[in-house]
Amino acid sequence: MSEHFLVTGGNRLEGEVLVGGAKNSVLKLMAAALLAEGTTVVTNCPDILDVPLMADVLRGLGCEVELEDSEVRITTPAEPKYHADFDAVKQFRASVCVLGPLVARCRRAVVALPGGDAIGSRPLDMHQSGLRLLGARSEIEHGCVVAEADDLHGANIRLVFPSVGATENILMAAVLARGETVIDNAAREPEIVDLCNMLNEMGAKVSGGGSSTLTIQGVRKLEPTTHRVIGDRIVAATWGVAASITRGDVRVRGVNHKHLGLVLDKLRTAGAEVTPEVDGFRVIQRERPKAVNFATLPYPGFPTDLQPMAIGLAAVAEGTSMITENVFESRFRFVEEMIRLGADARTDGHHAVIRGVPVLSSAPVWSSDIRAGAGLVLAGLVADGTTEVHDIFHIDRGYPRFVENLRGLGGVIERVGTE
Ligand code: UD1
Repeated sequence: MSEHFLVTGGNRLEGEVLVGGAKNSVLKLMAAALLAEGTTVVTNCPDILDVPLMADVLRGLGCEVELEDSEVRITTPAEPKYHADFDAVKQFRASVCVLGPLVARCRRAVVALPGGDAIGSRPLDMHQSGLRLLGARSEIEHGCVVAEADDLHGANIRLVFPSVGATENILMAAVLARGETVIDNAAREPEIVDLCNMLNEMGAKVSGGGSSTLTIQGVRKLEPTTHRVIGDRIVAATWGVAASITRGDVRVRGVNHKHLGLVLDKLRTAGAEVTPEVDGFRVIQRERPKAVNFATLPYPGFPTDLQPMAIGLAAVAEGTSMITENVFESRFRFVEEMIRLGADARTDGHHAVIRGVPVLSSAPVWSSDIRAGAGLVLAGLVADGTTEVHDIFHIDRGYPRFVENLRGLGGVIERVGTE
């Protein structure tokens, strides 16, 4: 039996919502625990399926993992296993972040390649070429990415694109390499800074986190630490857009508003009053949102993970919005579902033109990934009638207590089973 959401439109969202730790940080921090023998504790973990899935990947590598409330305790043995097999990794792509730590710790890694992805192809060439420059051999063999190194040494590495995953894997390999590594054109996402901070707490010597040049002085050994995950800026911004789209008033807590500078500016352009607060921000939208143009780019640009929610907003905005997707080639696929809800949208390659309509019209729609699913629910909140959102397991992978949080703000949503 699978489940779907019934979302009834028409309510203005009001109130306060607390976001948990960032999905895109916690999984990498859990992988970083492989770098030190002993017990590493990660706190403020979000209650999402990917956390227990990552725990299973680590167990398969010989770690003991305990999950309790929002805390995960990972005890890494002196000699972790180096083979993450397909059964462990098939359910989520982020598991590839064990590659760098395994090469660093075991000098050998075999990580099965997860399957395809609805948002576009996700090659690992940059991960592999970075590891090669550090002295590893790396090939794709029998459906696995294999990396081996007799001697891991520092290197100057220039990424052709500031890939989040490649930056993380190379960084986590370089912390235990001999000598200095410089990663140029590194990703600058707050989640990378979170990882750099945790690695430094473990005894690594990483500088430049948050800039496009990371410098790493390799050390012989790292020690376990206790680290708190940063708040999830994508979940936080989803609630911010939900406030704007429903002409509501929502206070979002548990996130650093500075991680959302451009996004909050775009909400202001849409006509929202946005107030930064110590532990988050508040969004009040009084009138119909106005059209906003944006182009997704690596941080500090507009996040590709918020593109579906922004398209939802553009669908009911006054005027025409131009949206460009620069990060994932197939991320506009879900626009077909928005059109099913009555959006006046056209896509051409990586551009989309959305002419706002006053109100959407409910329909059955299918989520193709976590963020597309969230975007469709937001659209359902401003659609006439009750929208069925299917394949919601995607949404559950990224949004803890989604139904409870949305209901807490006055949204009308129900989770029901489908035979
Ligand atoms: C991470 C996030 C994801 C977010 C994305 C971009 C996690 C678990 N996921 O994904 O939510 O949407 O960053 O902000 O943190 N690429 C290559 N070769 C490579 C690596 C990447 O061509 O070796 C390309 C990808 O196909 C994509 C682009 O680079 O077009 C960006 O990918 P990347 O930044 O690596 O995203 P992820 O780390 O997979």
